Amino acid sequence: MTLKIQIINGPNLNLLGKREPDIYGHLTLDEIKKEVDSHCQPKKITADFYQSNIEGELVGKIQEISESADGLIINAAAFTHTSVAILDALNTLNIPKIEVHISNVFAREEFRHKSMISKSVNGIICGFGLNSYILAVDAIERIIKDENK
Ligand code: DQA
Repeated sequence: MTLKIQIINGPNLNLLGKREPDIYGHLTLDEIKKEVDSHCQPKKITADFYQSNIEGELVGKIQEISESADGLIINAAAFTHTSVAILDALNTLNIPKIEVHISNVFAREEFRHKSMISKSVNGIICGFGLNSYILAVDAIERIIKDENK
């Protein structure tokens, strides 16, 4: 069985590689996608990557995948800390969901310690750079397989 995972990335993550590399590392989003793809391939998982800087487009994407994806990994970036709209959209999705962050948000400014969307997800992985995405793929695979036992 091939699993389909949607990976959604929020604002400014298109600038990875150039953006505050001391915090977010030197990999571009495209390079992260390639690493995730090669991690997924032997597991028979397909990962669709999506990025937008626009809150409404992120909400639209979340709505769109309700029938098509087996799981969602979301790095809502700055909208993590502000967006009731993304929380509400996530609440409509009945598939496993994991919140990821590249940086350890709890070791940063206080406003990053609060997530609007955590209520709606199975779990959170943060602080592992690129590996936050890789670990999230493994976690979501386990959740889906456990559900289908
Ligand atoms: C981030 C952390 C957020 O606080 C920040 O606004 C981002 C990226 C992360 O991946 O570490 O844009 O989600």
